[in-house]
Amino acid sequence: MDFLKMGDISPKDLQDILWVSLRIKQELKGGTHEEMLKGKTLLMLFSKNSTRTRVSFETGMTQLGGHAVFLDMEKSQGSRGESFFDMGGSVGGMADLVMARLHSHQDIEKLAEGSAAPVINGLTDLEHPCQALSDMLTLWELGKLKKGGKLAFVGDCRNNVANSLMLACAMSGLEVSMVGPEGYAPKSEYVEMAQGFGCKVEHCADVEKGLEGVDAVYTDTWVSMGDEIEAKKRVEVLSPYQVDEKLMYYAKQDAVFMHCLPAHRGQEVTNEVIDGKQSVVFLQAENRMHAQKGLMCWLLGKA
Ligand code: CP
Ligand code: NVA
Repeated sequence: MDFLKMGDISPKDLQDILWVSLRIKQELKGGTHEEMLKGKTLLMLFSKNSTRTRVSFETGMTQLGGHAVFLDMEKSQGSRGESFFDMGGSVGGMADLVMARLHSHQDIEKLAEGSAAPVINGLTDLEHPCQALSDMLTLWELGKLKKGGKLAFVGDCRNNVANSLMLACAMSGLEVSMVGPEGYAPKSEYVEMAQGFGCKVEHCADVEKGLEGVDAVYTDTWVSMGDEIEAKKRVEVLSPYQVDEKLMYYAKQDAVFMHCLPAHRGQEVTNEVIDGKQSVVFLQAENRMHAQKGLMCWLLGKA
């Protein structure tokens, strides 16, 4: 089984992965962690930059008693025209798991088609499901993953992080408020999928209305990797959606501020908010490692 999109797993699978992740995290903190992936190898293929994804997967694999191999797409035969299917067919016969961060989602599908080993999406233009897993773990630990809870995503509501997050929230029973301008409204197919889980999803261009009564305010860059050519236009259109202290005031008083990072301080979020008391961004970053350890054990039937 692959984990390319949030929709690849069921709400029950998501719950199971979160339970394993939490147990693994607690054991690690308690100093008694088990080497559940001893002797296993994870191949990590990157064609885009990364800080958290690379470090969390590699460190997590080491802690589980396994090994991670880093392959820069530029230095691989992929940059000389080898197909994703052939790469998958080759590396999937050596590694036990493959994690890839690629530009186009279609490419990771081809990689997975060729690979005998499970393939994990470490970010494509369409989804960032590992981020969403970690975010659900974070909300759960903070007591905010409960029925009737509500998360607002502010900014580019149709980017990879927004797509996976919207589905993960819906699968966890949270309501979602997508707050952004018309041109950056959530993708209708994702709204429909989220609604399919019985989730209330609203798109709202008005920040005050969109943030009313929310338990978490989430934002991401206005210019995702691959969107650089539109940077000027995006910054202009999305500027009214900067998460500053005034905007946070519209949410519940005890709402948390979330960001997948990297942040563009002074653009989508101000220093006051990201460094403020409500911010949980570094807990989210740390949880990348715990949630992905849970995911890898679950995918290999070691949970
Ligand atoms: N959030 C996230 O995926 O971070 P990196 O781009 O640093 O991996
Ligand atoms: N939406 C961002 C997420 C980075 C982790 C991007 O794709 O660049």
